[in-house]
Amino acid sequence: MLAGAPSPRTLFAGLTPQAPDAVLSLIAAFRDDPRPGKIDLGVGVYRDEDGATPVLRAVKAAEAILLETQASKAYLGPEGDLEFLERLAPLIFGPGDVGRGFLSIQTPGGTGALRVAADLASAGSLGARIWLGVPTWPNHPSMFAQAGLQVMTYRHFDPATQTVRFDELMSALDQARAGDLVLLHGCCHNPTGVDLTRDQWRTVAARLAERGLTPLIDLAYQGLGEGLEDDAAGLRIVLEAVDTAMVAYSCDKNFGLYRERTGALFVRAPGCAEVVRSNMLFMARCAWSMPPDHGAAAVRTILGSETLSAQWRAELEAMRRRLVSVRAALSGAAPHLAALRRQHGMFSLLPISPDQVERLRREHGVYMAGSGRINLAGLTAATVPTFVKALDACLLGEPA
Ligand code: LMR
Repeated sequence: MLAGAPSPRTLFAGLTPQAPDAVLSLIAAFRDDPRPGKIDLGVGVYRDEDGATPVLRAVKAAEAILLETQASKAYLGPEGDLEFLERLAPLIFGPGDVGRGFLSIQTPGGTGALRVAADLASAGSLGARIWLGVPTWPNHPSMFAQAGLQVMTYRHFDPATQTVRFDELMSALDQARAGDLVLLHGCCHNPTGVDLTRDQWRTVAARLAERGLTPLIDLAYQGLGEGLEDDAAGLRIVLEAVDTAMVAYSCDKNFGLYRERTGALFVRAPGCAEVVRSNMLFMARCAWSMPPDHGAAAVRTILGSETLSAQWRAELEAMRRRLVSVRAALSGAAPHLAALRRQHGMFSLLPISPDQVERLRREHGVYMAGSGRINLAGLTAATVPTFVKALDACLLGEPA
C-alpha cells in the first residue's frame, strides 16, 4: 500500500458481524458429526425412507432429453425461459381465470422471486410495509428489511394448541394500511406446518380486498401438503377476491431441484402493468442479470410432456404420502405430538426450548433448527421411536 493512501478498511468499517444462518449452518454441523445414529431434521430437503434425496426420475429423463437436444447456451434474457413460465402458470392458477393478467419472470429459486417482489414494493411506494405472521421462514424478515420494507409482525401460531391464531391474523389485517403488503404462506407453512382452512382463506381474501391490501403469496411446497390442486386452493381463493397480487413460486422442493435454484415471480398490477414489468426486468437485471437456466429447462421439459408430467406427479405424490405417513407414525408414537397429524408438508414446530434443542443435538445426535422446527422427511419408520425417546428424555430433563 502506498504511504499516505487511505486504509481500505474504512470501506467496510460500518459492517457488524452477522450470525450464521440458523437453518443452513445445520448442514455442515450434521455432516461433521461422526456419530452413526445421528438424525438430520434440519434444512428443508425431502428424504426418502433410506435417508436419500435422489434426483427425481422425471428430472433425470428431462435432463437426458436436454443433453441430447439443447442446441445452445446463449442467453435467454432477463425474464428467463418463457415456456417454463407459460407451462408453470396453469399448475399454480388452475384452468379458470384466476391467473389472468399476471406478468412473470423466472427467478433463482423462490428467494429470488421474494426479493424482486420486495424491491418492487420498496421502490414503488415510500415507506412500504409488509405484514408477517411469526414465526415464519427466518429469511423472510431479513430479506424484506434488507430490501427496505418496514416489517410488521403478528403472531401466526399458538404453540400450545399447535393451531393458527386466526384472530391475530385478522386483527393485523385490520391494522394494516391500504397498499401494505401481506405475506401469506400458500401451503405447508414453514416452520409450523399449520395452514389456513378454506373458510379462513375466504375470510382473509375478503378482508384483503375490503382494506386494499396486497397479498404476496409464497408458494414453495405445492404438492407436498394435501396435493397439487388442494395446495393451491387458498391462493386461488385470494386471487379471485383481489386485483393487485404477487406470487413467489419455488420448484426447488416439488421438483427436487434444490441447488438448481428454480423459481418464478408472478405479479398482477392492473392499471400499471407496463411500468411494473419494466421494473421487474430492471431489478432482475441488477440482481442476477439472467436466471440460471438448467432447472427451469428441466421443469419446462417435464410439463411439456404428458409422460414426464405423469411420472413427476406420481413421484411428487409418493413424497407427499411419505410425509403424511411420518406424521402419522410420530403422532401415534407420542400423545403430546398428536396435533402434528393435522399439519401439512415438511415441517412442524415443537414446543421445546433452545436448550432442549441443543441437548438433543449434543446428547442424542438429533439436529433441528434452534426454534424447534423439525423436517419430518428426516425421519423413517426405524428412527421415529429413537427420536421420540430422545425427545422425551430432553423434555422430562432425564439424563441421556
Ligand atoms: C428451509 O426452510 O429449510 C429451506 O427453505 C431451505 C432454506 O433456504 O432455508
